[in-house]
Amino acid sequence: MPCTVVVGGFWGDEGKGKIISYLALRDNVDIGVRGGVGPNAGHTVQVDEKQYKLRMIPSTFVNMKCKCLIGAGVLVNPEIFLEEVELTGCKGRVGLDPNCAIIEEKHIKADKASTYLSKKIGTTGTGTGPCNVDRVRRRAKVARDVPELKDFLVDVAFEVNKALDEGKNVLIEGTQGTFLSLYHGTYPYCTSKDVTSSSICGDVGVGPTRVNDVLVVFKAYITRVGGGPLPNELSQEEAERRGWTEVATVTGRVRRVAPFNIELAKRAVMLNGATQIAITKLDIVYPECRGARKYTELSEEAKKFIKNIEVSVGVPVVLIGTGPDVYDIIDLKKAGRISPVRPKA
Ligand code: IMP
Ligand code: MG
Repeated sequence: MPCTVVVGGFWGDEGKGKIISYLALRDNVDIGVRGGVGPNAGHTVQVDEKQYKLRMIPSTFVNMKCKCLIGAGVLVNPEIFLEEVELTGCKGRVGLDPNCAIIEEKHIKADKASTYLSKKIGTTGTGTGPCNVDRVRRRAKVARDVPELKDFLVDVAFEVNKALDEGKNVLIEGTQGTFLSLYHGTYPYCTSKDVTSSSICGDVGVGPTRVNDVLVVFKAYITRVGGGPLPNELSQEEAERRGWTEVATVTGRVRRVAPFNIELAKRAVMLNGATQIAITKLDIVYPECRGARKYTELSEEAKKFIKNIEVSVGVPVVLIGTGPDVYDIIDLKKAGRISPVRPKA
């Protein structure tokens, strides 16, 4: 803070939603603003036993005082957006930019009807790719053309930059993950835009000089859905044996699984200019760590795993997720201990 960008370090589903909602509460974030592609994202947030699966509204909504905005670069499906406004009860503090392009039924149909997209690439079928095509052709509808969105229109770039001028806390929420980037990912098995930190900031209209921290979120193991390479991929049987199987939030597909990969983590840190790392789902790999809220409660093996990431990657781990609830977390910043081992400068 005051301006932190949160992005995914692998292929999405790293648990950004949980980390973002925790930061929104801890730092009393004034504005949470979403960049990224669109409703192909699915961020899971769990507070007080209630679970939310959000595709449009920033995960910062859990802080009742936080304004939740969607940047001009993000594609909006009005139906999903309005549903989530109801679900989260955040009307009055939610807004989207008049220039957000609009996903229409024809985009969803085109995404699903194309065997190349739906079978080979394995898209989420939410219409984001075809909508971005229309946007590049400059014929997509935008939010200001949609009467149902009239009450929500906000000059997002202006609001966010003004808040930063006033010294307020802003959290910029990325979606998907580094290796799904159209430019830096596993092309053609990727999403329809760049999703590294620079582009996420571009989506909301915040320049690079205004950003204080880039937090990259890694899960303690890797998952991906759809086609494309996944180094050291485990068989489904092995994934099940380890208890690492997951089902995708948006599509319900079983996710492909691989162990944590230091080389990929290093590259993600480089591509995003990361200053901080969060590791989520440590309890899935080390079940004895479930619910731990202090570093000292971790097993020696789990500590070794974390230290190895910090030392090899050279960026401090500041947050460690140990369970689904927003407060199932070890906050190394709050503990006054940014890093167990001082990483290389
Ligand atoms: P699209 O973004 O729906 O076009 O899908 C392109 C690729 O990105 C597919 O492999 C999807 O499974 C993947 N993808 C898109 N969004 C997400 C996400 O939020 N989490 C995980 N994978 C995603
Ligand atoms: Mg997800």
